[in-house]
Amino acid sequence: EAAEKAGYDHFMLKEIHEQTTSIQNAFAGRISEIEGSVKFENLKLTRKDIQNISRIQIIACGTSWNAGLMSKYLFEQLAGIHTDVDIASEFRYGYPVLCGDTLTVAITQSGETADTLAAVRGAKSYGCRTLAITNVVGSTITREVNETIYTRSGPEIGVAATKTFTGQLIALYLLALHSGRMRGNIGHEDMKNILISLKKIPGQVQRILNNRDKVHRCASMFSDTDSYFFIGRYLNYPVALEAALKLKEISYIYAEGYAAGELKHGPLALIKEGTPVVAIATGGHTYSKMLNNIKEIKARGATVIAIADEDDQEIQKYADIIIPVPKTHELLSPVLSTIILQLLAYYTALERGCSIDKPRNLAKSVTVE
Ligand code: G6P
Repeated sequence: EAAEKAGYDHFMLKEIHEQTTSIQNAFAGRISEIEGSVKFENLKLTRKDIQNISRIQIIACGTSWNAGLMSKYLFEQLAGIHTDVDIASEFRYGYPVLCGDTLTVAITQSGETADTLAAVRGAKSYGCRTLAITNVVGSTITREVNETIYTRSGPEIGVAATKTFTGQLIALYLLALHSGRMRGNIGHEDMKNILISLKKIPGQVQRILNNRDKVHRCASMFSDTDSYFFIGRYLNYPVALEAALKLKEISYIYAEGYAAGELKHGPLALIKEGTPVVAIATGGHTYSKMLNNIKEIKARGATVIAIADEDDQEIQKYADIIIPVPKTHELLSPVLSTIILQLLAYYTALERGCSIDKPRNLAKSVTVE
């Protein structure tokens, strides 16, 4: 096992580090920034098919569901396709309204999650076209669906998903961009700019990993806390949910991920003097609203840890601790923020002496209901 860990203390840390290459693998050979185009090997969906999609139905569980929620924003913004995101165990016992021009997208790292498989079988019974985003070649889901996009993340041993989550995000970015292009929703220049930024992501991930000590120090400061909050808006909302999930899974600290604008509808009551609140406050159209939210929680005594663009001067006025993120295209910053938050969860669990690769009560793949 020590050999398989390649010098890392845990598979999770190894897999966090592997993201410099797994992210690259997720887009390698699939993008042309000069043409401003994306192409997937073996995708049968034609331009006409993509133009005819009236709605996307996402189905997933756990971390894959968080990737799915992110993709709702992407499909709607980039491709103009209305997107619903359902938890597979809810979807399978619901009464969904689906039709032939709905594209059902199942997101599952393992391709074996029982609830996701059952939900896809349900969607098929409505005559929907189905597409899977998975990491495991030849997994059960690939035999159930019309199309498969592989995330090419390589095997993941740690129970808590890390590199497979960012692999799913990249696959979803590409699918949303491709759909946007096919529907004439996104122009050549915009597409080109995003793809150029995408190619820089692996190098930027490396920079984050090189600065991991800062995240470790931050994790050590709060490792005894009994609760943690993560807040974000728009694309950073699913980032907050995934960060909270990661922390819960491996450090056993009670953590909540919240849409920052919802704080005043309940969770503000839980903020006490010194409660750590991680605010994902990278640049974008909701940035100024995030600053307001940060002021709101500061006023209640919270200690604010801001994840912010490295060139952000403004944030220093409001946050207690700032963890800088390399500057990228607004749409892509969630990938980089996620790496920081994976490290935060990892180092918190490390400080607490938890069983990082095999958290209590959890399994890598849930193949029974
Ligand atoms: C389990 C794993 C999670 C994963 C979820 C869905 O709960 O511990 O990491 O996100 O299953 O798995 P899937 O393979 O369908 O993505």
